[in-house]
Amino acid sequence: MAEEIPSTDLITLTRHVLHDQLRLGAAATGDLTLLLTAIQVTSKFIATNVRKARLINLVGLAGETNIQGEEQKKLDILSNDIMVNALRASGRTAVLVSEELEEAIFIEEKNKGKYCVVFDPLDGSSNIDAGVNIGTIFGIYKIRDGSKGTLEDVLRPGSEMVAAGYTMYGSSANLVLSTGSGVNGYTLDASLGEFILTHPNVNSPFLNVVCQLKFRLQIQIPPRGKIYSFNEGNSMYFNPPVVSYLKSIKFPAPPKTPYSARYIGSMVADVHRTLLYGGIFGYPDDKKSKSGKLRLLYEAFPMAFLTEQAGGIATTGTKRILDIVPTGIHERCPVFLGSKEDVQDLMKCYEGN
Ligand code: AHG
Ligand code: MN
Ligand code: MN
Ligand code: MN
Repeated sequence: MAEEIPSTDLITLTRHVLHDQLRLGAAATGDLTLLLTAIQVTSKFIATNVRKARLINLVGLAGETNIQGEEQKKLDILSNDIMVNALRASGRTAVLVSEELEEAIFIEEKNKGKYCVVFDPLDGSSNIDAGVNIGTIFGIYKIRDGSKGTLEDVLRPGSEMVAAGYTMYGSSANLVLSTGSGVNGYTLDASLGEFILTHPNVNSPFLNVVCQLKFRLQIQIPPRGKIYSFNEGNSMYFNPPVVSYLKSIKFPAPPKTPYSARYIGSMVADVHRTLLYGGIFGYPDDKKSKSGKLRLLYEAFPMAFLTEQAGGIATTGTKRILDIVPTGIHERCPVFLGSKEDVQDLMKCYEGN
């Protein structure tokens, strides 16, 4: 068999977003392109530190507690600083909200732009020291017409985000992004230092180019999956709809067969698998955590945005997540997301309650 030569036509993330900008013509100023470029640099920088963490004494606690009452890891703080510095320096942001900062940052006049970025600098902190997949999550709003950048610009429903994404630091670094027309996935080629489009969405103008790759992958959630992903260690606190849903997939009426359990404990990794393989990921509210654990602005919204863009559903059990109007920047909400039919089954358990 003839040996295949590697592709010489790589679609880098920068090329992809620039292409989108040029397609929009005069309507696009290039500001979002520059902002996304800044974000991909932060992902490369954080990925490098994650890889070296054990070697350069970056594992373990930093000795501080964040507003959520969680002990911050050294990598939480470092990743937060990397994000804040790069986003401020991009000159394209007005308001920043981070899991690790109690208050929002309002960018000073000389560096101010028209976008707001809400982010979880390092998701899955409990997995850092074991070298298990972790990530960065971000969502982007454009400030409202006439606004100079206030809290109101980020206390808006997730459906008003102009883009959302995450980078997962795993066996490879994967950046998954949506600007509102499908989801694209990029894989970091560490030797080039570039994120390369490896998971084009179905409508991508680059589909044919990327199809030259032997393994063609797409981020489109199958309508039904076979995997459920919950922290069942909390079962004694779960509310009746969740208990009956879990029972239905673990003890199905024949000829149905039970689902497989997969739970990593890093939202980024659990959602990444759900986007690719389908199934359901859930972090419910329960008797102990009345609003659940995950944070609305920088965890639930970006992941709900990506899930819907990939053809899935994201709900609190009773309400579309992207429709929630936040009242505080660190507000929490219950999250169930994934394959349409699986999430609909769960929602039926809430209806019958
Ligand atoms: P973070 O590390 O950013 O604080 O987020 C942790 C979140 C999320 O990554 C994950 O889905 C969830 O916490 C896991 O919680 P449990 O350990 O309670 O399962
Ligand atoms: Mn945390
Ligand atoms: Mn998180
Ligand atoms: Mn975090």
